Amino acid sequence: MPRQLFVTTALPYANGNFHIGHIMEYIQADIWVRFQRMQGNAVNFVGADDTHGAPIMIAAEKAGVTPEQFVANIAAGRKQYLDGFHISFDNWHSTHSPENTELARQIYRDLRDRADGSLIEVRTIEQFFDPEKNMFLPDRYIKGECPKCHAKDQYGDNCEVCGSVYAPTDLINPFSALSGAKPELKNSEHFFFKLSDPRCVEFLENWTQDGKLQPEVANKIKEWFSVRTNPDGTQSEGLGDWDISRDAPYFGIEIPDAPGKYFYVWLDAPVGYLASLKNWFDKGGPKAKHGDTRSFEEYIAAADTEQYHFIGKDIVTFHTLFWPAMLKFSGRKTPNNVFVHGFLTVNNGEKMSKSRGTGLDPLKYLSLGMNAEWLRYYLAAKLSARNEDIDFNADDFMARVNSDLIGKYVNIASRAAGFITKRFDGKLTSDFGTTGAALLAEVRGASDALAQMYEAREYGKATREIMLLADKVNAYVDQNKPWDLAKDVANNQALHQVCSVLINTFATLTRYLSPVLPGLAQAVQGFVGVDMQQWNVAGDVQAIQPYQHLMQRVTPEQLDALFEVKEAVAPAEPAQAAPKKVAKSAPAAIPADPNAPGGEALAPTISIDDFAKIDLRIAKIVNCEAVEGSTKLLRLTLDVGEKNAEGQPTTRNVFSGIASMYKPEDLVGQLTVLVANLAPRKMKFGISEGMVLAASHADETAQPGIHILHPWPGAQPGMRIH
Ligand code: 2FM
Ligand code: ZN
Repeated sequence: MPRQLFVTTALPYANGNFHIGHIMEYIQADIWVRFQRMQGNAVNFVGADDTHGAPIMIAAEKAGVTPEQFVANIAAGRKQYLDGFHISFDNWHSTHSPENTELARQIYRDLRDRADGSLIEVRTIEQFFDPEKNMFLPDRYIKGECPKCHAKDQYGDNCEVCGSVYAPTDLINPFSALSGAKPELKNSEHFFFKLSDPRCVEFLENWTQDGKLQPEVANKIKEWFSVRTNPDGTQSEGLGDWDISRDAPYFGIEIPDAPGKYFYVWLDAPVGYLASLKNWFDKGGPKAKHGDTRSFEEYIAAADTEQYHFIGKDIVTFHTLFWPAMLKFSGRKTPNNVFVHGFLTVNNGEKMSKSRGTGLDPLKYLSLGMNAEWLRYYLAAKLSARNEDIDFNADDFMARVNSDLIGKYVNIASRAAGFITKRFDGKLTSDFGTTGAALLAEVRGASDALAQMYEAREYGKATREIMLLADKVNAYVDQNKPWDLAKDVANNQALHQVCSVLINTFATLTRYLSPVLPGLAQAVQGFVGVDMQQWNVAGDVQAIQPYQHLMQRVTPEQLDALFEVKEAVAPAEPAQAAPKKVAKSAPAAIPADPNAPGGEALAPTISIDDFAKIDLRIAKIVNCEAVEGSTKLLRLTLDVGEKNAEGQPTTRNVFSGIASMYKPEDLVGQLTVLVANLAPRKMKFGISEGMVLAASHADETAQPGIHILHPWPGAQPGMRIH
């Protein structure tokens, strides 16, 4: 019997584009889902935009559109990312939907109207009010010091540094992020979900500690049952009640029988999982896909429906306490598990925060023509079942893609395919010889162990295992040297055997990698004529189509372009800014004009004052070296006649894209011209403190070359150019 799997990823706030942290989570979940589908299981994999809450309301107001229009605009941008990275959601929906409104209200009513005593309580609380903006301040608009770890500049609902969840009134030195004003406390009626009720505590203690959660996650949660910080700073035992209402004005779902009161966004957000699933059922998705004729209600209540949520470590509380309790005490089934991952850092940088994350722009990645499957493979190689951070490192990325994925695995096919096509009319033999048969049996024999690794989300282990198998296949190639066998037709049978073993091992390895590399697997399916959508396929490859190149290598230039930061290094932007625009990767294009001098029209006239803003100085190149990992850049150490506070001479570090023209040793000791007051630029390899002037033709292909400026004798380091 196929398993019935309902799988989700965390619903992204509809106030910005996806950043690389979202894409990592989607890739992690997508690999698991694709693996499950290959096993023949019936998966419903859904996502949605998390649309409600004050930040979105305020961002929409700033943008001059309604919140509905605002979130619709964000939704329209999702597809290019999801398709681009091969994320195979069955449905994408919205928490601002009739399904979500109805489900959230019903769950609330069920909690409120319980026969054994309501779990909803109304209390008058003191809440922060912005006297300048004349509104109660949403949690995200109060900032201050975290009461637990004392990190500065944390939001009013939870700390991004230590992950604690607290009330805004717990913050030390709070201020309004909208106006900067010191907020005042005012009374307001709020609705609470009584998590401190013994029924909830007993249930949650069991639900979180029964062994299903990752051990490191369960251990962390255990602490929340024992110690809690109250609004007045005192500590008490056990879980606190959860404030689930917000006062108008609020973009959200109005609470039944409570005009002017809205569900806090985190109440209706996880309900969005169900709303998207219901929308998928109502559209007939499961019927068309799995022949499932049940209603949403029947499916979600069925004993054999397994429900899994992939989430980041910052939203564990919501998914392991509030959400299971909401479901349980509204009379619904609870999730089977919650799979928690760590953060993704880039080049050892900072974590990709939800509100500030950039670093590796996924859209830029795609627009540079970088293969989405390189990233899928790289992340798979780094991911485990543990809740731990992983780092995207550019050099490591290039090594794993080029040396492992292409060097070890893809090349197996290219080493054998030509001989099969040219010498054996594309046909394979099933006579593999003794060593060949043993190798093939070993590769095929790894199937169950690898399946267990995928099931357990141990993708790093799985890819390591697969690469070890590829190493063995490559050792077999080196022992049998098909290129030598091909020199003498007397060896035809041996050549046929060796190449047939290689194509068969390649087909099996492709199937193992298929959850990670779905596009490549599809291409290989066309090449070897074997189904790559199923985990277990018996039988040998019979024949192949002529080999087409399967995957390009990643180049240093692509990585340079991916991480090139054009803007000056600026202070971190305000956390809840309006949707981030995708940073442009190239400067404004100069219109090429072959008839104009140097291939480009003159720039518009400027005044002498405009020119005076540019501080050009004579610089001496005191050192120059190649930059590891870049074919374009040289690292220059420049003496511009500057001194530090102690009067000691200092130098500047400048990167310049002149490596194609100059050998480092030829430049040392030379004078050149530096734009000395250019804002420092953060580049992948370090900070560039200025720019060396160089001339080039606008059309590099017509007139290649880049020529640095060199002053006449007599100019000294530090002299200004007027
Ligand atoms: O943290 C976030 O980005 C939330 N938008 C996640 C919501 S997950 C689910 F509950 F909807
Ligand atoms: Zn903290």
